[in-house]
Amino acid sequence: MELDEIKQAALKAINDAKNSDALTSVRNLFLSKKSEINQKMGELKNLAAEERKTFGQKINETRNAISKAFEEKLASINAQALDARLKNEKIDISLPANSYNKAGVNPLALVEEEITEIFLGMGYQVYEGSDVESDEYNFELMNIPKDHPAREMQDTFYLSDTMLLRTHTSPAQARAMKEARGGPVRIICPGKCYRRDNDDLTHSHQFMQIEGLLIDKGIHLGHLEKTLEAFVKKLFGEKREIRLRSSYFPFTEPSVEVDVSCDKCGGKGCPTCKGTGYIEILGAGVVNPRVLKLNGYDPKEYSGFAFGVGLERIAMLKYGIDDIRRFYQNDVRFLNEFKRR
Ligand code: PHE
Repeated sequence: MELDEIKQAALKAINDAKNSDALTSVRNLFLSKKSEINQKMGELKNLAAEERKTFGQKINETRNAISKAFEEKLASINAQALDARLKNEKIDISLPANSYNKAGVNPLALVEEEITEIFLGMGYQVYEGSDVESDEYNFELMNIPKDHPAREMQDTFYLSDTMLLRTHTSPAQARAMKEARGGPVRIICPGKCYRRDNDDLTHSHQFMQIEGLLIDKGIHLGHLEKTLEAFVKKLFGEKREIRLRSSYFPFTEPSVEVDVSCDKCGGKGCPTCKGTGYIEILGAGVVNPRVLKLNGYDPKEYSGFAFGVGLERIAMLKYGIDDIRRFYQNDVRFLNEFKRR
């Protein structure tokens, strides 16, 4: 074949090649050592010098043209293959993702967090007590000696003769006082408490309290009242009022029961507040001088106030929950009502 024919044949074959395999065969046919062009190179030595030059040039031009066409076709085949792959491997991001269930927060935890925030804002620190307590801290140091009638109401689970599950968060008072070594104290202590089961809709063998204790010079009942008023208004709203009723706790003197005005009836009296216009929310009082003495303080120098809030009761009021057992049943339908908004 003449060089021109070879060139035409090669360009056509390159153009017709459908894929890289076909293109490689074409390349072998027209550009390899055994190809016709290469054979023609071998013939050069038989030519006269002048002819050799022009023919040699022509061979080179032909080979370059075929090479160029081959490279271009190869690039286009590769580009097409890549396009096809990209199309095939495309991830369909419009497909909805697998959903997962994000749990709600137990309302007791929500209320604990909210109350803690309020008291942190008033300069209190969170004191971590322990569920397992000694008789000494749970009772003795809180002025509840053996045979005191208050022990009857606070029967609990005993781990040994001297260790028990705490019946209130008040032992944290004694522990905080001990750590303060006779100096000022301003703590709250949230946590679980345990008592003999009363088995009704508002009591449980396990429940939560937040204890509060403030000790400093010149502290009296007025400080307690204003502190609790500020707390209640922050928690339930500015319109709510508090009422102090006289009560009894061995560790406070005087002792009070604190009620919040009913928001259903605005204080007039309704079934929610059992006709009284108020709902009881916590126990409190001025720290009994005997407790101060028992815990290393001089009652002539220092005084203080303490309070204990039942978290279940607060959560029931705040969220309108009718049965205390709902807090502990892990019913997702209930918990899902408290997903963070
Ligand atoms: N510890 C008391 C209770 O569990 C509550 C309380 C705490 C009362 C602090 C007064 C002061 O009933």
